[in-house]
Amino acid sequence: MGRMGLGVAAGCAVVTCAIAAALVGRRARSWWRWARVVGVVGQFEEDCATPVWKLRQVVDAMVVEMHAGLASDGGSKLKMLLTFVDTLPDGNEDGVYYALDLGGTSCRVLKVQLGGGGSRIINHKVEQQQLPEELVSRTSGEFFDFIALTLKEFIEREENGQVPGSKKELGFTFSFPIRQLSVSSGVLIKWTKGFTSEDVVGKDVSQCLEEAMSKNGLHMQVAALVNDPVGTLAVGHYDDADTVAAVMIGSGTNACYVERSDAIIKYQGLLTDSGFMIVNMEWGNFWSSHLPRTSYDIALDDESPNRNDQGYEKMISGMYLGEIVRRVLCRIAEVSDIFGDPAHHLSVPFILRTPLMAAMHEDVSPDLREVGRILQESLQTSGLSLKAKMIVVRVCDTVTRRAARLAAAGIIGILKKIGRDGRTKGKPRRTVVAIERGLYTNYSMFRVYLNEAITDILGEEIAQNIVIRVSEDGAGIGAALLAAACSSKR
Ligand code: BGC
Repeated sequence: MGRMGLGVAAGCAVVTCAIAAALVGRRARSWWRWARVVGVVGQFEEDCATPVWKLRQVVDAMVVEMHAGLASDGGSKLKMLLTFVDTLPDGNEDGVYYALDLGGTSCRVLKVQLGGGGSRIINHKVEQQQLPEELVSRTSGEFFDFIALTLKEFIEREENGQVPGSKKELGFTFSFPIRQLSVSSGVLIKWTKGFTSEDVVGKDVSQCLEEAMSKNGLHMQVAALVNDPVGTLAVGHYDDADTVAAVMIGSGTNACYVERSDAIIKYQGLLTDSGFMIVNMEWGNFWSSHLPRTSYDIALDDESPNRNDQGYEKMISGMYLGEIVRRVLCRIAEVSDIFGDPAHHLSVPFILRTPLMAAMHEDVSPDLREVGRILQESLQTSGLSLKAKMIVVRVCDTVTRRAARLAAAGIIGILKKIGRDGRTKGKPRRTVVAIERGLYTNYSMFRVYLNEAITDILGEEIAQNIVIRVSEDGAGIGAALLAAACSSKR
């Protein structure tokens, strides 16, 4: 080989080495990038872990807090509120009743026709109206005017343009913590789920609604004011007498159950003919050091309008799950470029809503097409690799699994408190828990994880006696039923 040949060969070797070095460098960078991503996700999974022993600690903590909340006002973060509902509808109620169900993001209006004589509900009609976003911070007047008008328009349509002339009785489901003054009245203790209209706090919400209705020419009076799980429990029990508790898991979360009146120690001397009363736990505010809390939960809480409140709700309910996922994805975007450059929409709080998260989690297409589409539409990230999409699904899974398992532990806590967890005494009895709002019904992975955790905690044999029964529109129908039951008592 001549000199020139040697020169060319040497040149080629240099170029080859440079390419090889560049490739190795790129590989190494990519390896490090993935190592960081896997590190963030792995740590998050570890912090969210809910092994059975931890769930049992949560069950026991729930029982302890229930006792403390029943012993004194302020004795626990669990408020354990009186509802004054001490009889449940039995099928003898009859007539047509309207109800208004004000939830976290929507308002439902209902017409329920009851047959009496032990018959079931003959008919019911529901219409749903999304609450305008700005309503969450409006004044009490504007707030109640909006819902009174929604109800009036519904009744006018149902009654062919007529509105009731004489005072008709209404069931009012108000899905926020209320200190009840009677079965038909109560004051708002505080807002949850992002609502901030300050001038409603401390007011009697039934009175506010009645004033707004009368101002708008609708002459009705609130016969039953109920928190949403109370309505669900009323219908659940009406349909199946083994129903002892009800749980809501939607934008917010809560539970109520049937308690012996003598166990409500803070109201010594509370006498009810039936010997029981439904207690509204306000379990969204439950807190225990056994809850697996991550740095993302802490940051979410710090930036929320109700800091240090609703800790359990912020780990479980629909308003927050998508937001926790977004925060983890944001952290991943900080340590890597797997979401493209720059993944700026990721930094917008609450942009990733839980229904979108559920759709990504449940994407079964081999190339995770739905995940790619949702991320592109909501976060403007394009051309994600399959690996990146798989990471997103993994984060959704971790968040939902923790939420569903913690909710299951809460349910078993209630059953343990009232001796229906199949372990306490005697033979296990069939026990029904009514459940309502979107997460359990519309998010199948949530449902699977919740049911699985019940079996994990109680064991297969005992878990067979626990029936989780889905209730649709129970919160509103239950309010109408309770309004009917209350007016028939008068
Ligand atoms: C409220 C409860 C309500 C629950 C479910 C929570 O944020 O505090 O009163 O029952 O959401 O709607």
